[in-house]
Amino acid sequence: MRRALVTGAAGQIGTELVQALRAELGADRVLATDLRRPEDDQPVVAGGPFGLLDCTDGEALDRHLREHRPDTIFHLAALLSAVGENQPQEAYRVNLGGLVTVLEAAREREIALFTPSSIAAFGPGTPPDLTPQETIQRPTTMYGVTKVAGELLCDYYHHRFGVDARGLRYPGIISHSAPPGGGTTDYAVEIFHAAVSEGRYTCFLEPDTQLDMMYMPDAVRAALELMQADPERLEHRNAFNVTAMQFTPQGLADRIRERIPHFSIDYEVDPTRQAIADSWPRRLDDSAARREWGWSPEYDEDAMVDDMLDHLVPRPNGASAPESSSPATPGG
Ligand code: NAD
Ligand code: SER
Repeated sequence: MRRALVTGAAGQIGTELVQALRAELGADRVLATDLRRPEDDQPVVAGGPFGLLDCTDGEALDRHLREHRPDTIFHLAALLSAVGENQPQEAYRVNLGGLVTVLEAAREREIALFTPSSIAAFGPGTPPDLTPQETIQRPTTMYGVTKVAGELLCDYYHHRFGVDARGLRYPGIISHSAPPGGGTTDYAVEIFHAAVSEGRYTCFLEPDTQLDMMYMPDAVRAALELMQADPERLEHRNAFNVTAMQFTPQGLADRIRERIPHFSIDYEVDPTRQAIADSWPRRLDDSAARREWGWSPEYDEDAMVDDMLDHLVPRPNGASAPESSSPATPGG
Protein backbone atom coordinates (compact mmCIF):
# COMPACT_ATOMS: atom_id res chain seq x y z
CA MET A 1 0.00 0.00 0.00
CA ARG A 2 1.46 3.35 -1.10
CA ARG A 3 -1.45 5.76 -1.66
CA ALA A 4 -4.95 5.61 -0.15
CA LEU A 5 -8.38 7.20 -0.52
CA VAL A 6 -10.82 7.03 2.41
CA THR A 7 -14.60 7.49 2.03
CA GLY A 8 -16.69 8.52 5.06
CA ALA A 9 -13.43 9.90 6.48
CA ALA A 10 -15.10 12.44 8.77
CA GLY A 11 -16.82 9.73 10.83
CA GLN A 12 -15.86 7.96 14.03
CA ILE A 13 -13.47 5.44 12.44
CA GLY A 14 -12.29 7.61 9.52
CA THR A 15 -11.12 10.40 11.82
CA GLU A 16 -8.54 8.06 13.37
CA LEU A 17 -7.84 5.75 10.41
CA VAL A 18 -6.87 8.75 8.25
CA GLN A 19 -4.37 9.91 10.87
CA ALA A 20 -2.85 6.42 11.13
CA LEU A 21 -2.61 6.11 7.34
CA ARG A 22 -0.99 9.55 7.02
CA ALA A 23 1.53 8.63 9.71
CA GLU A 24 2.40 5.45 7.79
CA LEU A 25 2.23 6.55 4.13
CA GLY A 26 2.89 10.30 4.38
CA ALA A 27 0.25 13.02 4.68
CA ASP A 28 0.00 13.85 0.96
CA ARG A 29 -0.57 10.21 0.01
CA VAL A 30 -3.89 9.88 1.86
CA LEU A 31 -6.97 11.60 0.43
CA ALA A 32 -9.74 11.89 3.02
CA THR A 33 -13.25 12.28 1.52
CA ASP A 34 -16.74 12.63 2.96
CA LEU A 35 -20.19 13.95 2.13
CA ARG A 36 -19.62 16.71 4.68
CA ARG A 37 -16.53 18.85 5.29
CA PRO A 38 -15.40 19.05 8.93
CA GLU A 39 -14.09 22.35 10.32
CA ASP A 40 -10.70 23.46 8.95
CA ASP A 41 -8.96 22.79 12.26
CA GLN A 42 -10.05 19.13 12.36
CA PRO A 43 -7.15 16.72 11.72
CA VAL A 44 -8.89 15.05 8.76
CA VAL A 45 -8.85 18.42 6.94
CA ALA A 46 -5.84 20.11 8.54
CA GLY A 47 -3.53 17.10 8.32
CA GLY A 48 -3.59 16.44 4.56
CA PRO A 49 -5.74 16.52 1.40
CA PHE A 50 -9.52 16.46 1.83
CA GLY A 51 -12.25 16.26 -0.84
CA LEU A 52 -16.03 16.31 -0.77
CA LEU A 53 -17.41 13.04 -2.15
CA ASP A 54 -20.79 11.34 -2.18
CA CYS A 55 -19.78 7.68 -2.46
CA THR A 56 -22.84 6.89 -4.58
CA ASP A 57 -21.61 9.32 -7.28
CA GLY A 58 -19.44 7.23 -9.62
CA GLU A 59 -18.27 10.17 -11.75
CA ALA A 60 -17.12 12.19 -8.76
CA LEU A 61 -15.35 9.14 -7.35
CA ASP A 62 -13.61 8.56 -10.66
CA ARG A 63 -12.39 12.20 -10.72
CA HIS A 64 -10.82 11.76 -7.28
CA LEU A 65 -9.26 8.45 -8.31
CA ARG A 66 -7.76 9.97 -11.49
CA GLU A 67 -6.31 12.90 -9.58
CA HIS A 68 -5.08 11.10 -6.46
CA ARG A 69 -4.16 7.66 -7.98
CA PRO A 70 -4.61 5.52 -4.84
CA ASP A 71 -3.78 1.83 -4.87
CA THR A 72 -6.11 1.22 -1.91
CA ILE A 73 -9.58 2.51 -0.95
CA PHE A 74 -10.87 2.33 2.63
CA HIS A 75 -14.64 2.53 2.12
CA LEU A 76 -16.14 3.71 5.42
CA ALA A 77 -19.15 5.74 4.24
CA ALA A 78 -22.37 4.19 5.55
CA LEU A 79 -25.47 4.79 7.67
CA LEU A 80 -25.23 2.89 10.96
CA SER A 81 -27.81 0.66 12.64
CA ALA A 82 -30.07 3.10 14.51
CA VAL A 83 -30.01 5.76 11.77
CA GLY A 84 -30.57 3.01 9.21
CA GLU A 85 -33.71 1.77 11.00
CA ASN A 86 -35.10 5.32 10.90
CA GLN A 87 -34.31 5.66 7.19
CA PRO A 88 -34.17 2.13 5.73
CA GLN A 89 -34.49 3.20 2.09
CA GLU A 90 -31.67 5.72 2.47
CA ALA A 91 -29.54 3.13 4.29
CA TYR A 92 -30.04 0.73 1.37
CA ARG A 93 -29.15 3.46 -1.15
CA VAL A 94 -26.00 4.65 0.60
CA ASN A 95 -24.72 1.37 2.02
CA LEU A 96 -25.26 -0.85 -1.01
CA GLY A 97 -25.39 1.80 -3.76
CA GLY A 98 -22.17 3.30 -2.43
CA LEU A 99 -20.46 -0.07 -2.14
CA VAL A 100 -21.34 -1.13 -5.69
CA THR A 101 -20.07 2.23 -6.97
CA VAL A 102 -16.77 1.79 -5.13
CA LEU A 103 -16.43 -1.89 -6.16
CA GLU A 104 -16.91 -0.95 -9.82
CA ALA A 105 -14.21 1.72 -9.53
CA ALA A 106 -11.90 -0.76 -7.78
CA ARG A 107 -12.50 -3.25 -10.61
CA GLU A 108 -11.92 -0.75 -13.41
CA ARG A 109 -8.78 0.76 -11.88
CA GLU A 110 -7.38 -2.36 -10.16
CA ILE A 111 -7.47 -0.83 -6.69
CA ALA A 112 -7.51 -2.84 -3.44
CA LEU A 113 -10.55 -2.26 -1.25
CA PHE A 114 -11.20 -2.43 2.50
CA THR A 115 -14.89 -2.52 3.54
CA PRO A 116 -16.03 -2.97 7.15
CA SER A 117 -18.87 -5.33 7.90
CA SER A 118 -20.30 -5.57 11.42
CA ILE A 119 -21.74 -7.77 14.17
CA ALA A 120 -24.98 -6.46 12.62
CA ALA A 121 -24.50 -8.98 9.80
CA PHE A 122 -25.86 -11.57 12.26
CA GLY A 123 -29.40 -11.94 13.55
CA PRO A 124 -31.57 -13.59 16.19
CA GLY A 125 -31.08 -17.07 14.67
CA THR A 126 -27.27 -16.83 14.92
CA PRO A 127 -25.53 -18.61 17.83
CA PRO A 128 -24.84 -15.63 20.15
CA ASP A 129 -21.85 -17.00 22.04
CA LEU A 130 -18.57 -17.67 20.26
CA THR A 131 -20.44 -16.90 17.04
CA PRO A 132 -18.62 -18.90 14.34
CA GLN A 133 -16.95 -17.34 11.32
CA GLU A 134 -19.43 -19.22 9.13
CA THR A 135 -22.93 -19.44 10.54
CA ILE A 136 -26.58 -18.38 10.10
CA GLN A 137 -26.86 -14.74 8.88
CA ARG A 138 -30.47 -13.57 8.88
CA PRO A 139 -30.29 -10.00 10.28
CA THR A 140 -33.51 -8.13 11.07
CA THR A 141 -32.26 -4.56 10.41
CA MET A 142 -31.73 -2.81 7.08
CA TYR A 143 -28.18 -2.02 8.24
CA GLY A 144 -27.56 -5.74 8.78
CA VAL A 145 -29.11 -6.65 5.44
CA THR A 146 -26.73 -4.23 3.70
CA LYS A 147 -23.77 -5.66 5.63
CA VAL A 148 -24.49 -9.29 4.65
CA ALA A 149 -25.10 -8.28 1.05
CA GLY A 150 -21.90 -6.20 1.16
CA GLU A 151 -19.85 -9.18 2.36
CA LEU A 152 -21.23 -11.28 -0.49
CA LEU A 153 -20.68 -8.54 -3.09
CA CYS A 154 -17.06 -8.09 -2.03
CA ASP A 155 -16.49 -11.87 -2.24
CA TYR A 156 -18.16 -11.88 -5.66
CA TYR A 157 -15.95 -9.08 -7.00
CA HIS A 158 -12.91 -10.93 -5.74
CA HIS A 159 -13.82 -14.31 -7.28
CA ARG A 160 -15.37 -12.96 -10.48
CA PHE A 161 -13.13 -9.97 -11.27
CA GLY A 162 -10.03 -10.47 -9.11
CA VAL A 163 -10.60 -7.33 -7.03
CA ASP A 164 -8.38 -7.41 -3.92
CA ALA A 165 -11.35 -6.83 -1.60
CA ARG A 166 -10.90 -7.45 2.13
CA GLY A 167 -12.98 -6.71 5.23
CA LEU A 168 -13.71 -7.19 8.92
CA ARG A 169 -16.86 -7.71 10.96
CA TYR A 170 -16.23 -4.98 13.51
CA PRO A 171 -17.92 -5.11 16.90
CA GLY A 172 -18.95 -1.82 18.59
CA ILE A 173 -16.03 0.61 18.42
CA ILE A 174 -15.13 2.81 21.41
CA SER A 175 -13.12 6.00 20.92
CA HIS A 176 -12.59 9.51 22.28
CA SER A 177 -11.76 11.60 19.16
CA ALA A 178 -14.95 11.72 17.08
CA PRO A 179 -18.51 10.98 18.21
CA PRO A 180 -20.18 7.76 17.02
CA GLY A 181 -22.51 8.12 14.05
CA GLY A 182 -25.87 6.74 15.25
CA GLY A 183 -25.41 3.09 16.11
CA THR A 184 -26.68 0.75 18.81
CA THR A 185 -23.31 0.50 20.55
CA ASP A 186 -22.98 4.32 20.88
CA TYR A 187 -23.82 4.10 24.59
CA ALA A 188 -20.33 2.71 25.23
CA VAL A 189 -18.85 6.02 24.02
CA GLU A 190 -21.53 8.40 25.38
CA ILE A 191 -21.17 6.94 28.88
CA PHE A 192 -17.56 8.20 29.16
CA HIS A 193 -18.38 11.77 28.11
CA ALA A 194 -21.36 11.86 30.50
CA ALA A 195 -19.35 10.34 33.36
CA VAL A 196 -16.65 12.99 33.02
CA SER A 197 -18.93 16.00 32.43
CA GLU A 198 -21.98 15.19 34.61
CA GLY A 199 -21.08 12.20 36.77
CA ARG A 200 -24.17 10.35 35.59
CA TYR A 201 -25.52 8.65 32.46
CA THR A 202 -28.94 7.45 31.28
CA CYS A 203 -28.46 4.36 29.14
CA PHE A 204 -30.75 3.38 26.27
CA LEU A 205 -29.95 -0.36 26.59
CA GLU A 206 -30.89 -2.67 29.48
CA PRO A 207 -28.20 -3.16 32.16
CA ASP A 208 -27.43 -6.78 31.25
CA THR A 209 -27.19 -6.47 27.42
CA GLN A 210 -23.82 -7.97 26.53
CA LEU A 211 -22.23 -7.00 23.21
CA ASP A 212 -18.86 -7.41 21.57
CA MET A 213 -16.65 -4.29 21.61
CA MET A 214 -13.21 -3.02 20.54
CA TYR A 215 -11.09 0.06 21.32
CA MET A 216 -10.27 2.29 18.34
CA PRO A 217 -6.47 1.73 18.27
CA ASP A 218 -7.14 -2.00 17.79
CA ALA A 219 -9.83 -1.31 15.15
CA VAL A 220 -7.45 0.88 13.12
CA ARG A 221 -4.58 -1.57 13.47
CA ALA A 222 -6.84 -4.46 12.39
CA ALA A 223 -7.73 -2.65 9.14
CA LEU A 224 -4.09 -1.84 8.37
CA GLU A 225 -2.85 -5.34 9.19
CA LEU A 226 -5.54 -7.02 7.11
CA MET A 227 -4.75 -4.85 4.08
CA GLN A 228 -1.04 -5.67 4.44
CA ALA A 229 -1.56 -9.41 5.08
CA ASP A 230 -0.18 -12.03 2.70
CA PRO A 231 -3.08 -12.71 0.28
CA GLU A 232 -2.01 -16.36 -0.05
CA ARG A 233 -2.97 -16.93 3.59
CA LEU A 234 -6.45 -15.37 3.34
CA GLU A 235 -9.25 -17.90 2.96
CA HIS A 236 -12.08 -15.63 4.09
CA ARG A 237 -11.11 -12.15 2.89
CA ASN A 238 -14.24 -10.01 3.33
CA ALA A 239 -15.88 -10.76 6.61
CA PHE A 240 -13.37 -11.70 9.28
CA ASN A 241 -14.89 -11.90 12.76
CA VAL A 242 -12.74 -9.74 15.07
CA THR A 243 -13.30 -8.96 18.73
CA ALA A 244 -11.43 -7.58 21.72
CA MET A 245 -13.76 -7.43 24.75
CA GLN A 246 -17.34 -8.05 25.82
CA PHE A 247 -19.33 -6.19 28.48
CA THR A 248 -22.77 -5.00 29.56
CA PRO A 249 -23.81 -1.41 30.38
CA GLN A 250 -23.87 -2.32 34.08
CA GLY A 251 -20.42 -3.92 33.91
CA LEU A 252 -18.95 -0.92 32.07
CA ALA A 253 -20.55 1.44 34.61
CA ASP A 254 -18.90 -0.58 37.42
CA ARG A 255 -15.48 -0.23 35.74
CA ILE A 256 -15.98 3.54 35.38
CA ARG A 257 -17.14 3.83 39.02
CA GLU A 258 -13.87 2.20 40.13
CA ARG A 259 -12.16 5.30 38.65
CA ILE A 260 -14.93 7.93 39.23
CA PRO A 261 -16.57 6.85 42.53
CA HIS A 262 -19.51 9.31 42.36
CA PHE A 263 -20.56 8.10 38.85
CA SER A 264 -24.11 6.76 38.60
CA ILE A 265 -26.14 5.17 35.80
CA ASP A 266 -29.85 4.75 35.22
CA TYR A 267 -31.81 3.29 32.34
CA GLU A 268 -34.46 4.54 29.90
CA VAL A 269 -34.59 1.72 27.40
CA ASP A 270 -35.14 2.59 23.75
CA PRO A 271 -37.16 -0.36 22.36
CA THR A 272 -35.76 0.01 18.82
CA ARG A 273 -32.10 -0.09 19.83
CA GLN A 274 -32.77 -2.75 22.50
CA ALA A 275 -34.36 -5.01 19.86
CA ILE A 276 -31.35 -4.46 17.59
CA ALA A 277 -28.90 -5.27 20.40
CA ASP A 278 -30.89 -8.38 21.37
CA SER A 279 -30.53 -9.67 17.80
CA TRP A 280 -26.70 -9.37 17.79
CA PRO A 281 -24.07 -11.79 19.09
CA ARG A 282 -22.67 -11.49 22.61
CA ARG A 283 -19.21 -12.68 21.59
CA LEU A 284 -17.65 -13.57 18.22
CA ASP A 285 -15.19 -16.38 17.57
CA ASP A 286 -12.27 -14.58 15.87
CA SER A 287 -10.03 -17.63 15.41
CA ALA A 288 -10.05 -17.37 11.59
CA ALA A 289 -8.57 -13.84 11.77
CA ARG A 290 -5.99 -15.00 14.32
CA ARG A 291 -5.02 -17.95 12.15
CA GLU A 292 -5.04 -16.32 8.70
CA TRP A 293 -3.37 -12.95 9.38
CA GLY A 294 -2.25 -13.00 13.01
CA TRP A 295 -5.02 -10.84 14.53
CA SER A 296 -4.61 -10.17 18.24
CA PRO A 297 -6.22 -7.29 20.20
CA GLU A 298 -4.14 -5.24 22.62
CA TYR A 299 -6.82 -3.51 24.67
CA ASP A 300 -9.07 -5.35 27.12
CA GLU A 301 -11.88 -3.56 28.98
CA ASP A 302 -9.70 -2.25 31.82
CA ALA A 303 -6.98 -0.92 29.49
CA MET A 304 -9.65 0.74 27.31
CA VAL A 305 -11.39 2.41 30.29
CA ASP A 306 -8.06 3.71 31.62
CA ASP A 307 -7.08 5.15 28.24
CA MET A 308 -10.51 6.71 27.55
CA LEU A 309 -10.49 8.48 30.92
CA ASP A 310 -6.85 9.54 30.46
CA HIS A 311 -7.98 11.39 27.34
CA LEU A 312 -11.31 12.77 28.59
CA VAL A 313 -10.67 13.82 32.19
CA PRO A 314 -9.45 17.44 32.15
CA ARG A 315 -5.82 17.78 33.22
CA PRO A 316 -4.47 20.29 35.69
CA ASN A 317 -2.85 23.38 34.11
CA GLY A 318 -4.25 22.50 30.67
CA ALA A 319 -1.65 19.74 30.07
CA SER A 320 -2.56 17.64 27.04
CA ALA A 321 -3.57 13.97 27.23
CA PRO A 322 -1.08 11.33 26.11
CA GLU A 323 -1.27 9.69 22.69
CA SER A 324 -3.02 6.33 22.97
CA SER A 325 -0.26 3.79 23.35
CA SER A 326 -0.30 0.03 23.61
CA PRO A 327 -1.33 -1.02 27.11
CA ALA A 328 1.38 -2.35 29.41
CA THR A 329 -0.58 -5.56 30.00
CA PRO A 330 -2.07 -6.84 26.74
CA GLY A 331 -5.67 -7.99 27.01
CA GLY A 332 -7.77 -10.16 24.75
P1 NAD B 1 -19.87 7.20 11.09
O1 NAD B 1 -21.35 7.27 11.01
O2 NAD B 1 -19.19 7.79 12.27
O3 NAD B 1 -19.21 7.84 9.78
C1 NAD B 1 -19.72 7.59 8.50
C2 NAD B 1 -19.34 8.76 7.62
O4 NAD B 1 -19.91 8.50 6.33
C3 NAD B 1 -19.90 10.10 8.09
O5 NAD B 1 -18.85 11.03 8.25
C4 NAD B 1 -20.87 10.53 7.00
O6 NAD B 1 -20.84 11.93 6.74
C5 NAD B 1 -20.34 9.75 5.81
N1 NAD B 1 -21.34 9.51 4.77
C6 NAD B 1 -22.66 9.23 4.91
N2 NAD B 1 -23.24 9.10 3.71
C7 NAD B 1 -22.26 9.30 2.78
C8 NAD B 1 -22.21 9.31 1.37
N3 NAD B 1 -23.32 9.10 0.63
N4 NAD B 1 -21.03 9.54 0.75
C9 NAD B 1 -19.91 9.79 1.48
N5 NAD B 1 -19.90 9.82 2.83
C10 NAD B 1 -21.06 9.58 3.46
O7 NAD B 1 -19.49 5.65 10.93
P2 NAD B 1 -18.19 4.89 11.47
O8 NAD B 1 -18.50 4.45 12.86
O9 NAD B 1 -16.99 5.67 11.22
O10 NAD B 1 -18.26 3.58 10.56
C11 NAD B 1 -17.47 3.43 9.40
C12 NAD B 1 -17.75 2.05 8.83
O11 NAD B 1 -17.47 1.06 9.83
C13 NAD B 1 -19.21 1.82 8.40
O12 NAD B 1 -19.24 0.97 7.28
C14 NAD B 1 -19.80 1.09 9.59
O13 NAD B 1 -20.89 0.28 9.21
C15 NAD B 1 -18.62 0.25 10.03
N6 NAD B 1 -18.73 -0.18 11.42
C16 NAD B 1 -18.65 0.74 12.42
C17 NAD B 1 -18.76 0.30 13.74
C18 NAD B 1 -18.69 1.27 14.90
O14 NAD B 1 -18.95 0.86 16.04
N7 NAD B 1 -18.34 2.52 14.68
C19 NAD B 1 -18.94 -1.06 14.02
C20 NAD B 1 -19.05 -1.95 12.95
C21 NAD B 1 -18.91 -1.50 11.66
N1 SER C 1 -21.54 0.09 16.12
C1 SER C 1 -22.37 -0.24 15.01
C2 SER C 1 -23.79 0.10 15.28
O1 SER C 1 -24.16 0.05 16.44
C3 SER C 1 -22.24 -1.72 14.72
O2 SER C 1 -22.02 -1.89 13.39
O3 SER C 1 -24.51 0.35 14.37
